[in-house]
Amino acid sequence: MIQFTNVSKFYDEDVVLKDISFTIEKGELAYITGPSGAGKTTLLKLIYCAERPDQGQIVVAHWDVGKLKQGTIPYLRRNVGIVFQDFRLLSNKTVFDNVALALRIHDMPPKEIKEKVSAVLKEVKISHKANTFPPHLSGGEQQRVVIARAMVSKPTVLLADEPTGNLDAETSKTITDLFKEINARGTTVLIATHNDALFHGTGRRVFHLRDNCIEKETIE
Ligand SMILES: Nc1ncnc2c1ncn2[C@@H]1O[C@H](COP(=O)(O)OP(=O)(O)OP(=O)(O)O)[C@@H](O)[C@H]1O
Ligand SMILES: [Mg+2]
Repeated sequence: MIQFTNVSKFYDEDVVLKDISFTIEKGELAYITGPSGAGKTTLLKLIYCAERPDQGQIVVAHWDVGKLKQGTIPYLRRNVGIVFQDFRLLSNKTVFDNVALALRIHDMPPKEIKEKVSAVLKEVKISHKANTFPPHLSGGEQQRVVIARAMVSKPTVLLADEPTGNLDAETSKTITDLFKEINARGTTVLIATHNDALFHGTGRRVFHLRDNCIEKETIE
């Protein structure tokens, strides 16, 4: 589902990722870990084409992402949901509208929007807050809405960057469980985190980034 072959990425002259190769299978839930600055966010950005590789090939579903024309990127993005800390919820729109916004740009009839948004809010267990504004939600609830927004277009791949970064251990667990449920329904999930607790004991594959390379791959 996601395949990197000898991928390198530079920012100016600085190498961030050097000759990276790995494959995430369809239906897998896997993790990327590594110290701050190791390149985890950059690796995810390459997958949804927010950055381009300088060398090598990246294939996501049937797209050769490094070579995508600008006009094709929106099609890729409909299939790749993203849960990133810097993609904030709009504080002056309700939970429902924050999630609906991801669909309205595609000219969908209102009835269909309502059905899809209601279904995804139920899926992430936040239906009871549909008419609430994000500043009135807890951190864990806000993260559920961010996940709903990423999932409403039914992407085949879900990427998450430090999805529990601002949450306490107990809330982190409920968000981790949610990713497991999403994965069990068929979505391929890739989570970047420096928090070992998220993947310890999961039995999932973990790619360890260090010194610009994948130092090792473990099953935790
Ligand atoms: N747009 C950019 N321009 C220049 N350098 C960048 C840019 N984005 C990231 N970098 C650099 O690339 C390296 C990797 O950054 P990246 O954000 O991918 O790391 P990370 O593993 O996600 O770190 P963290 O755990 O702190 O989020 C860092 O040295 C960073 O300073
Ligand atoms: Mg990062």
